[in-house]
Amino acid sequence: MADKDGNKHAKNFGFDQPAENKSFHVKGMENVDWGMKTRLSQIFDPKSGNTIMLAFDHGYIMGPTQGLERLDLAIPPLMDYADVLMGTRGALRTCIPPDCKKAIALRCSAGSSVLKDDMSHEVVGVDIEDAIRMNATCMAIQSFIGSEGECESISNIVKTIDAGNRYGIPTLGVVAVGKEMERTTKYFSLATRMLAEFGAQIVKVYYCDNFEEVAAACPVPLVIAGGKKIPEAEALEMAYQAISRGAHGVDMGRNVFQADDPKAMIQAIREVVHNGRTGAEAYECYLDIKAK
Ligand code: 5RP
Repeated sequence: MADKDGNKHAKNFGFDQPAENKSFHVKGMENVDWGMKTRLSQIFDPKSGNTIMLAFDHGYIMGPTQGLERLDLAIPPLMDYADVLMGTRGALRTCIPPDCKKAIALRCSAGSSVLKDDMSHEVVGVDIEDAIRMNATCMAIQSFIGSEGECESISNIVKTIDAGNRYGIPTLGVVAVGKEMERTTKYFSLATRMLAEFGAQIVKVYYCDNFEEVAAACPVPLVIAGGKKIPEAEALEMAYQAISRGAHGVDMGRNVFQADDPKAMIQAIREVVHNGRTGAEAYECYLDIKAK
Protein backbone atom coordinates (compact mmCIF):
# COMPACT_ATOMS: atom_id res chain seq x y z
CA MET A 1 0.00 0.00 0.00
CA ALA A 2 2.72 2.44 0.95
CA ASP A 3 4.36 2.57 -2.45
CA LYS A 4 5.71 6.01 -3.21
CA ASP A 5 6.12 5.26 -6.89
CA GLY A 6 4.21 3.03 -9.22
CA ASN A 7 0.74 3.72 -7.83
CA LYS A 8 -1.87 3.95 -10.52
CA HIS A 9 -2.62 7.58 -11.32
CA ALA A 10 -6.01 8.75 -10.01
CA LYS A 11 -8.24 9.60 -12.96
CA ASN A 12 -11.86 8.69 -12.31
CA PHE A 13 -13.24 11.80 -10.64
CA GLY A 14 -16.90 11.38 -11.62
CA PHE A 15 -17.27 15.00 -12.74
CA ASP A 16 -20.68 14.12 -14.18
CA GLN A 17 -21.88 13.03 -10.72
CA PRO A 18 -21.24 15.85 -8.23
CA ALA A 19 -21.34 14.91 -4.53
CA GLU A 20 -24.95 15.18 -3.40
CA ASN A 21 -26.16 17.18 -0.42
CA LYS A 22 -29.54 15.75 0.50
CA SER A 23 -30.39 17.12 3.92
CA PHE A 24 -27.59 19.57 4.67
CA HIS A 25 -25.87 22.14 2.49
CA VAL A 26 -22.25 21.48 3.49
CA LYS A 27 -20.36 18.85 1.51
CA GLY A 28 -19.79 15.60 3.37
CA MET A 29 -21.43 16.84 6.57
CA GLU A 30 -24.81 15.08 6.41
CA ASN A 31 -23.97 12.85 9.35
CA VAL A 32 -22.38 15.20 11.88
CA ASP A 33 -24.13 16.32 15.06
CA TRP A 34 -26.67 19.16 15.20
CA GLY A 35 -24.28 21.43 17.12
CA MET A 36 -21.58 21.04 14.53
CA LYS A 37 -24.13 21.66 11.78
CA THR A 38 -25.15 24.98 13.35
CA ARG A 39 -21.52 26.07 13.35
CA LEU A 40 -20.98 24.92 9.76
CA SER A 41 -24.11 26.86 8.79
CA GLN A 42 -22.63 30.01 10.28
CA ILE A 43 -19.57 29.43 8.08
CA PHE A 44 -21.18 28.28 4.81
CA ASP A 45 -24.10 30.33 3.56
CA PRO A 46 -27.10 27.99 3.13
CA LYS A 47 -28.08 29.72 -0.14
CA SER A 48 -24.80 29.83 -2.06
CA GLY A 49 -23.18 26.98 -0.08
CA ASN A 50 -20.01 29.10 0.04
CA THR A 51 -18.05 31.22 2.50
CA ILE A 52 -15.80 34.26 2.64
CA MET A 53 -13.21 33.99 5.36
CA LEU A 54 -11.10 37.04 6.04
CA ALA A 55 -7.68 35.84 7.21
CA PHE A 56 -5.64 38.15 9.44
CA ASP A 57 -3.61 35.61 11.40
CA HIS A 58 -0.35 36.46 9.61
CA GLY A 59 1.21 38.08 12.68
CA TYR A 60 1.54 34.75 14.46
CA ILE A 61 4.32 33.85 12.04
CA MET A 62 5.28 37.11 10.32
CA GLY A 63 4.82 39.84 12.92
CA PRO A 64 3.32 43.10 11.61
CA THR A 65 2.83 42.86 7.86
CA GLN A 66 1.73 45.49 5.38
CA GLY A 67 -1.94 46.25 5.86
CA LEU A 68 -2.08 44.63 9.29
CA GLU A 69 0.14 47.06 11.20
CA ARG A 70 -2.91 48.02 13.27
CA LEU A 71 -5.46 45.20 13.43
CA ASP A 72 -7.91 47.43 15.30
CA LEU A 73 -7.95 49.86 12.35
CA ALA A 74 -7.62 47.39 9.46
CA ILE A 75 -10.19 44.71 10.26
CA PRO A 76 -13.38 46.33 11.66
CA PRO A 77 -14.18 48.23 8.42
CA LEU A 78 -14.01 44.94 6.46
CA MET A 79 -15.89 42.69 8.87
CA ASP A 80 -19.38 43.36 7.57
CA TYR A 81 -18.49 41.84 4.20
CA ALA A 82 -16.92 38.63 5.53
CA ASP A 83 -18.77 35.53 6.76
CA VAL A 84 -15.89 34.37 8.96
CA LEU A 85 -13.03 36.15 10.72
CA MET A 86 -9.84 34.10 10.89
CA GLY A 87 -7.42 35.23 13.54
CA THR A 88 -5.45 34.32 16.64
CA ARG A 89 -7.02 34.58 20.07
CA GLY A 90 -4.70 37.48 20.87
CA ALA A 91 -5.79 39.45 17.83
CA LEU A 92 -9.46 38.70 18.38
CA ARG A 93 -9.46 39.55 22.08
CA THR A 94 -7.58 42.81 21.64
CA CYS A 95 -8.79 44.21 18.34
CA ILE A 96 -12.17 42.74 17.31
CA PRO A 97 -15.40 43.96 18.89
CA PRO A 98 -17.08 40.94 20.55
CA ASP A 99 -20.51 42.05 19.25
CA CYS A 100 -19.36 41.53 15.63
CA LYS A 101 -21.75 38.56 15.11
CA LYS A 102 -19.38 36.87 12.67
CA ALA A 103 -18.27 33.26 12.67
CA ILE A 104 -14.77 32.84 14.07
CA ALA A 105 -12.03 30.61 12.64
CA LEU A 106 -9.66 30.55 15.57
CA ARG A 107 -6.03 29.97 14.64
CA CYS A 108 -5.00 27.23 17.07
CA SER A 109 -1.55 26.21 15.81
CA ALA A 110 1.62 28.03 16.82
CA GLY A 111 5.31 27.44 17.12
CA SER A 112 7.38 28.81 14.29
CA SER A 113 8.30 32.15 12.78
CA VAL A 114 9.61 33.44 9.48
CA LEU A 115 13.07 33.53 11.09
CA LYS A 116 13.25 29.75 10.89
CA ASP A 117 14.30 27.94 7.73
CA ASP A 118 11.95 25.09 8.52
CA MET A 119 8.62 26.31 9.84
CA SER A 120 6.99 22.92 9.97
CA HIS A 121 7.45 22.27 13.68
CA GLU A 122 4.30 23.53 15.36
CA VAL A 123 2.25 22.72 18.44
CA VAL A 124 -1.41 23.09 19.33
CA GLY A 125 -1.32 26.59 20.79
CA VAL A 126 -4.86 26.90 22.18
CA ASP A 127 -6.66 24.61 24.65
CA ILE A 128 -10.10 23.41 23.64
CA GLU A 129 -11.45 25.17 26.77
CA ASP A 130 -10.17 28.49 25.51
CA ALA A 131 -11.53 27.84 22.02
CA ILE A 132 -14.95 27.29 23.61
CA ARG A 133 -14.51 30.41 25.77
CA MET A 134 -13.70 32.36 22.58
CA ASN A 135 -16.92 31.02 21.03
CA ALA A 136 -14.88 29.63 18.12
CA THR A 137 -16.96 28.47 15.19
CA CYS A 138 -14.05 26.38 13.93
CA MET A 139 -10.41 25.80 14.88
CA ALA A 140 -7.64 26.21 12.30
CA ILE A 141 -4.59 23.97 12.41
CA GLN A 142 -1.78 23.95 9.88
CA SER A 143 -0.42 20.74 8.41
CA PHE A 144 2.96 20.29 6.76
CA ILE A 145 2.57 17.16 4.66
CA GLY A 146 5.90 15.92 3.33
CA SER A 147 8.03 18.16 5.52
CA GLU A 148 10.30 17.55 8.52
CA GLY A 149 7.48 18.36 10.92
CA GLU A 150 4.87 16.27 9.12
CA CYS A 151 4.22 13.87 11.99
CA GLU A 152 3.97 16.64 14.62
CA SER A 153 1.59 18.61 12.48
CA ILE A 154 -0.56 15.53 11.87
CA SER A 155 -0.59 14.87 15.60
CA ASN A 156 -1.71 18.49 16.16
CA ILE A 157 -4.56 18.19 13.72
CA VAL A 158 -5.89 14.82 14.86
CA LYS A 159 -5.82 15.93 18.52
CA THR A 160 -7.70 19.08 17.60
CA ILE A 161 -10.25 17.14 15.54
CA ASP A 162 -10.85 14.81 18.49
CA ALA A 163 -11.28 17.75 20.88
CA GLY A 164 -13.55 19.56 18.40
CA ASN A 165 -15.69 16.47 17.87
CA ARG A 166 -16.26 16.24 21.63
CA TYR A 167 -17.81 19.72 21.63
CA GLY A 168 -19.20 20.03 18.12
CA ILE A 169 -16.57 22.45 16.85
CA PRO A 170 -15.31 21.79 13.32
CA THR A 171 -11.60 21.83 12.47
CA LEU A 172 -10.24 23.73 9.48
CA GLY A 173 -7.16 21.88 8.22
CA VAL A 174 -4.76 24.31 6.58
CA VAL A 175 -2.45 22.87 3.93
CA ALA A 176 0.86 24.66 4.41
CA VAL A 177 3.35 25.11 1.63
CA GLY A 178 6.86 25.46 2.98
CA LYS A 179 9.85 26.48 0.88
CA GLU A 180 10.52 22.92 -0.22
CA MET A 181 6.96 21.94 -1.06
CA GLU A 182 5.63 21.78 -4.57
CA ARG A 183 2.43 23.56 -5.52
CA THR A 184 1.22 20.81 -7.82
CA THR A 185 -2.09 19.05 -8.37
CA LYS A 186 -0.47 15.88 -7.06
CA TYR A 187 0.75 17.48 -3.84
CA PHE A 188 -2.48 19.34 -3.09
CA SER A 189 -4.60 16.27 -3.90
CA LEU A 190 -2.53 14.24 -1.44
CA ALA A 191 -2.52 16.84 1.35
CA THR A 192 -6.22 17.80 1.12
CA ARG A 193 -7.36 14.19 0.99
CA MET A 194 -5.18 13.28 3.97
CA LEU A 195 -6.62 16.09 6.09
CA ALA A 196 -10.18 15.15 5.16
CA GLU A 197 -9.53 11.50 5.98
CA PHE A 198 -8.07 12.49 9.35
CA GLY A 199 -11.47 14.06 9.99
CA ALA A 200 -11.03 17.77 9.25
CA GLN A 201 -14.46 19.14 8.38
CA ILE A 202 -13.07 21.95 6.17
CA VAL A 203 -9.76 22.13 4.29
CA LYS A 204 -7.87 25.20 3.17
CA VAL A 205 -5.54 24.90 0.19
CA TYR A 206 -3.98 26.97 -2.58
CA TYR A 207 -5.48 27.13 -6.05
CA CYS A 208 -3.58 25.02 -8.58
CA ASP A 209 -3.77 23.47 -12.05
CA ASN A 210 -6.55 20.87 -12.39
CA PHE A 211 -8.19 22.22 -9.24
CA GLU A 212 -11.38 20.38 -10.15
CA GLU A 213 -9.57 17.08 -9.49
CA VAL A 214 -8.37 18.26 -6.08
CA ALA A 215 -11.91 19.40 -5.17
CA ALA A 216 -13.66 16.29 -6.51
CA ALA A 217 -11.37 13.93 -4.61
CA CYS A 218 -11.74 15.79 -1.31
CA PRO A 219 -14.92 14.71 0.50
CA VAL A 220 -15.23 17.95 2.53
CA PRO A 221 -15.43 21.59 1.39
CA LEU A 222 -12.26 23.30 0.20
CA VAL A 223 -11.59 26.99 0.67
CA ILE A 224 -8.70 28.63 -1.12
CA ALA A 225 -6.00 30.81 0.38
CA GLY A 226 -5.13 33.97 -1.49
CA GLY A 227 -1.38 33.83 -1.02
CA LYS A 228 0.94 36.74 -1.79
CA LYS A 229 -0.62 39.92 -3.12
CA ILE A 230 -1.34 39.82 -6.86
CA PRO A 231 -3.20 42.42 -8.96
CA GLU A 232 -6.86 42.71 -7.96
CA ALA A 233 -8.20 41.50 -11.32
CA GLU A 234 -6.04 38.36 -11.09
CA ALA A 235 -7.08 37.61 -7.51
CA LEU A 236 -10.74 37.88 -8.48
CA GLU A 237 -10.19 35.64 -11.50
CA MET A 238 -8.44 33.09 -9.28
CA ALA A 239 -11.38 33.15 -6.86
CA TYR A 240 -13.79 32.69 -9.77
CA GLN A 241 -11.80 29.78 -11.24
CA ALA A 242 -11.61 28.11 -7.83
CA ILE A 243 -15.35 28.45 -7.17
CA SER A 244 -16.29 27.27 -10.64
CA ARG A 245 -14.01 24.23 -10.22
CA GLY A 246 -15.45 23.13 -6.91
CA ALA A 247 -14.12 25.33 -4.09
CA HIS A 248 -16.70 26.36 -1.50
CA GLY A 249 -15.16 29.67 -0.67
CA VAL A 250 -12.05 31.69 -0.09
CA ASP A 251 -9.97 32.33 3.00
CA MET A 252 -8.09 35.40 1.85
CA GLY A 253 -5.87 37.84 3.61
CA ARG A 254 -3.21 39.80 1.76
CA ASN A 255 -5.22 40.08 -1.45
CA VAL A 256 -7.87 41.88 0.58
CA PHE A 257 -6.08 44.02 3.14
CA GLN A 258 -3.17 44.87 0.79
CA ALA A 259 -5.50 45.79 -2.09
CA ASP A 260 -5.61 49.42 -3.22
CA ASP A 261 -9.09 49.55 -1.73
CA PRO A 262 -9.61 46.66 0.73
CA LYS A 263 -13.29 47.44 1.31
CA ALA A 264 -14.05 47.43 -2.42
CA MET A 265 -12.00 44.24 -2.84
CA ILE A 266 -13.86 42.22 -0.26
CA GLN A 267 -17.19 43.35 -1.72
CA ALA A 268 -16.02 42.27 -5.18
CA ILE A 269 -15.00 38.88 -3.75
CA ARG A 270 -18.56 38.55 -2.38
CA GLU A 271 -19.85 38.97 -5.92
CA VAL A 272 -17.85 35.92 -7.02
CA VAL A 273 -18.37 33.74 -3.96
CA HIS A 274 -22.04 34.39 -3.24
CA ASN A 275 -23.52 35.99 -6.34
CA GLY A 276 -22.13 33.90 -9.18
CA ARG A 277 -20.22 36.72 -10.90
CA THR A 278 -17.17 35.99 -13.06
CA GLY A 279 -13.75 37.39 -12.20
CA ALA A 280 -14.09 40.05 -14.91
CA GLU A 281 -17.55 41.11 -13.71
CA ALA A 282 -16.35 41.27 -10.13
CA TYR A 283 -13.40 43.41 -11.17
CA GLU A 284 -15.86 45.88 -12.75
CA CYS A 285 -17.69 45.92 -9.39
CA TYR A 286 -14.37 46.55 -7.64
CA LEU A 287 -13.64 49.55 -9.88
CA ASP A 288 -17.18 50.92 -9.44
CA ILE A 289 -17.10 50.66 -5.64
CA LYS A 290 -13.58 52.10 -5.52
CA ALA A 291 -14.64 55.10 -7.64
CA LYS A 292 -17.49 56.03 -5.28
C1 5RP B 1 -1.45 30.36 6.31
C2 5RP B 1 -2.84 30.77 6.56
C3 5RP B 1 -3.10 32.19 6.49
O1 5RP B 1 -4.25 32.54 7.18
C4 5RP B 1 -3.36 32.51 5.08
O2 5RP B 1 -2.44 31.92 4.23
C5 5RP B 1 -3.36 33.94 4.93
O3 5RP B 1 -4.07 34.28 3.86
P1 5RP B 1 -3.36 34.84 2.54
O4 5RP B 1 -2.40 33.79 2.06
O5 5RP B 1 -4.54 35.01 1.64
O6 5RP B 1 -2.70 36.14 2.88
O7 5RP B 1 -3.71 30.02 6.79
O8 5RP B 1 -1.19 29.31 7.08
